[in-house]
This record gives sequence, structure tokens and C-alpha cells, in this order.
Amino acid sequence: MNSLEHFNHYFQTASGDQSNASLIEFYRSVVFERLLKSEPEILDLGCGTRSIFEDLNVVKEKVIAVDFSNVAIEKTPSHTTINYLVVDLTTPNAFGKSKFDLIFDSHCLHCIEGYSEREVAFKNIYNALGEDGLFCAEMMIQKSYKYVHLPFKHVPTALELEREILESGLKIIYFLISPGMVFHNENGECDLLRVVCRK
Ligand SMILES: C[S@@+](CC[C@H](N)C(=O)[O-])C[C@H]1O[C@@H](n2cnc3c(N)ncnc32)[C@H](O)[C@@H]1O
Repeated sequence: MNSLEHFNHYFQTASGDQSNASLIEFYRSVVFERLLKSEPEILDLGCGTRSIFEDLNVVKEKVIAVDFSNVAIEKTPSHTTINYLVVDLTTPNAFGKSKFDLIFDSHCLHCIEGYSEREVAFKNIYNALGEDGLFCAEMMIQKSYKYVHLPFKHVPTALELEREILESGLKIIYFLISPGMVFHNENGECDLLRVVCRK
């Protein structure tokens, strides 16, 4: 089973409830105050069946929420002005000439496993970010003393992630690690990293 088949299967059987309190808290406590525009053009990556921006005070018409799972996108809210699209972040030039003031990773990047696919994903993010825009991500990173392998996930060390970001051309302006954040899985614990970047 590849990653797309895995997520399509997951969304076929998922209950439909999707709330991600930590992403909302990240946006409210870290991202919002750093935005330079009051009505930003937003790209939400890996939105699943419901973008977190449905629940935030943003201009919904200015939000594009993407996911590579057509099954997830078919289950997104019908009465909304958020624009939901099936897009694979690992497709070269996935966003064409579009530019965004905020690119928000809704736990998508840590689901991209291959190094070359991750390189393309970061390149797409860099190309789609406006000059004064922000790229913001919350993701799992390895604890220093115990390596965790999670199926259909890529959990880098903090150093690996820092290198990936810098190699893409992005500049890191915020990098915070919360040790001991437990992700509910059978294989152990990861730390939580929040990062904010500019061009
Ligand atoms: C861990 S889930 C997070 C879903 C939702 N944002 C949430 O917070 O509950 C990761 C999401 O990324 C999507 N995804 C994984 N790889 C992707 C890719 N290459 N391009 C676009 N979306 C992808 C999956 O389909 C899934 O919806």
C-alpha cells in the first residue's frame, strides 16, 4: 500500500470528526501576530476533511485548502467559501504562479516519506510563498535518545529538519521544540516542533 492508498483508506473509514486543537492554538498564539496582512491569502496543506481555517477568523474566500486524498476532499464541508482542491504537494510546480501570504502545514509534511519527494514539497512551498509571506509548520521530530519509526510518516531529527528548510532557501524566524509531546501511537513518543519561516 502506498501513502495515497493509505490515506484514502483512512478517510473512507474515518468517522468524519476532525478537530486539531494544537494546530489552532499554534495559529492563534504564534502565527497570527506575525502576519503582515490583515486579510492574508492562505494555503492550507494536508487539510484532510476540514481545514482548520473553517474555525479561525480569516476571510474564507482567501483560503485554498489542499490534500492529495480525493476521498478526504469529497468529505469537506459543502457550505463554505474555502476553496478545497485535490493537490499532491510532491508534484513539481504544484501551485503554478500562485503566491500566498501564509502557507500553513496542517501536519502534512511529516507524512511525506521520501527525501526527493520532501525536496519537491519544500521547493513548491518556497515558490508559492509571497515575498513577505510566512511558512508555518508544526511537526513531529525525533527525541534525542530514542528513535521512533512510524508507518507512512517521516520523523526527522531537529537538525535534519533545520537543514531541509535552509536548503530550500527559506529563512527560519521561529523554532521551538516542546519535549515529551506524546503522539498517540504504539511505537513511542516524539517531540513537537513549531517552526515559522520567511523567504
Ligand atoms: C496527519 S493528516 C492531517 C489531517 C488534518 N490536517 C488534521 O490535522 O487532522 C495528514 C494529511 O496530509 C495529507 N497528505 C499526505 N501526503 C500528502 C501529499 N503528498 N500532498 C498533499 N496532501 C498529503 C493526507 O491525506 C492527510 O489528510
